[in-house]
Amino acid sequence: MSNIVSLDELAKFARRKGFIYQGSEIYGGLANTWDYGNKGVLLKENIKNLWRQYLVQSRVDMIELDSGILMNQRVWEASGHTETFADAMVDDKKTKHRFRADHLIEEQLGIDVEGMSGEEITKIMSENKLLNPKTGKEGDWTEARYMNLMFETNRDKINPSNEETRIYLRPETAQGIFVQFKNILNTERKKLPFGVGQIGKAFRNEITPGNFNFRIVEFEQMEIEYFITPPSKDKQWNKVFEEWLDLQKKFLKVGLALTDENLQQKEHSKEKLSHYSKRTVDLEYNFPFGFSELTGLAYRTDFDLSQHMKFSGESLEYMDPTTGEKFIPHVIEPTVGVDRLFLAILCQHYREEKIENDTRIVLGLPYKLAPFKVAVLPLMKKDGLGEKAQEIFANLRARGLMCDYDESGSVGKRYRRQDENGTPWCLTVDYDTLSDGTITLRHRDTMEQERVKIDELSEWLDAKKF
Ligand code: GAP
Repeated sequence: MSNIVSLDELAKFARRKGFIYQGSEIYGGLANTWDYGNKGVLLKENIKNLWRQYLVQSRVDMIELDSGILMNQRVWEASGHTETFADAMVDDKKTKHRFRADHLIEEQLGIDVEGMSGEEITKIMSENKLLNPKTGKEGDWTEARYMNLMFETNRDKINPSNEETRIYLRPETAQGIFVQFKNILNTERKKLPFGVGQIGKAFRNEITPGNFNFRIVEFEQMEIEYFITPPSKDKQWNKVFEEWLDLQKKFLKVGLALTDENLQQKEHSKEKLSHYSKRTVDLEYNFPFGFSELTGLAYRTDFDLSQHMKFSGESLEYMDPTTGEKFIPHVIEPTVGVDRLFLAILCQHYREEKIENDTRIVLGLPYKLAPFKVAVLPLMKKDGLGEKAQEIFANLRARGLMCDYDESGSVGKRYRRQDENGTPWCLTVDYDTLSDGTITLRHRDTMEQERVKIDELSEWLDAKKF
């Protein structure tokens, strides 16, 4: 069940267990930044590998790219980001708190201000007594001003206002794929339809109400640009769109074990579509603050390739190998943020179980997501048990199995620690191990134990994956 704990409690749990720390914590933090600890790194890596497995590597029509964070500033002019990638902001003059005006108006008045000018938004704000959500009192609001969300820097440190040398940190990974489309066509010799997947960092100067790591300024995206024949020649785009929607759902439900009741589909109305999109469907997750966007799927038409053709002067056309006809492909884009998936996974799989007068906290992660698959625990450090346990640990790691080693505290406490880490199996080395070569394996969810021969451990674990 999602939402059994508050977001604050979940953030405390994630920090206590070394999944996520507040960014720059010893300096009082930096708003909307988070760092991933050891288990966080491992869980994130597993999320990315599963995405690759489900959406990229299982398909013959998919390849990958790793493009740079920094690109020629013209990329962002062509994509429309320098012009339109902005949110309207208002400040409370008394408290200096800053908010997104669209969020305040939507939450307090139920009005959608998408596409409105700064003046129109200011008028709505002044005609209605909007509250400052941080104080609960009526705010003394500034005019609404649009702020571009792209971070920028300048190569020319002597003259930082030199516009020629301005560089943006990319706000999405997608554009890297469009910009390399010509090279990809020439080197990969792929026929339409085919897609390019990319995992990488993106940056947005977000002002947020602070929903843990839901909306952050530095995050990782996993995006696919799937190139298809334009609908003027092949009307099948909606079929391809639905296939990708199904695959996104399969990844969330089967790969990450997010449950049906915590997922919902949201079709964007025509008025809410981005400037580049003909159809967009989000999959939303039931976070503690309500259903919110987890993944996106957009039919971007030929908008991006056409724009880059126009701005770069290079041809980004595809030549049909059978007819010799040239055209600009259209694109369907499945996209998702790794950090948001991370949060949904914590919400979904965190549980508290009452056992007599005690509470057992379990992170019931599927085997493939678990940071550690096995924890090796010697009953005692002495009498050669520690050495034997370390030997087993080293053998498992050498086999490529990510396992943990823990020799401090009672075995009961160590079991509980691993339940919180999400480790499916605890492997205990005791005196019998030294005499008959067996170990005990204890299962995280059932807490049942089984005696297994060390020599048969590999096959046993392979058979028990869940
Ligand atoms: N290329 C299309 C694109 O970037 P988007 O809806 O703006 O579309 C795609 O972003 C996904 O990236 C979202 O569905 C979300 O999972 C993730 N994402 C976007 N902004 C984010 C932020 N500030 N923090 C964390 N994840 C974010």
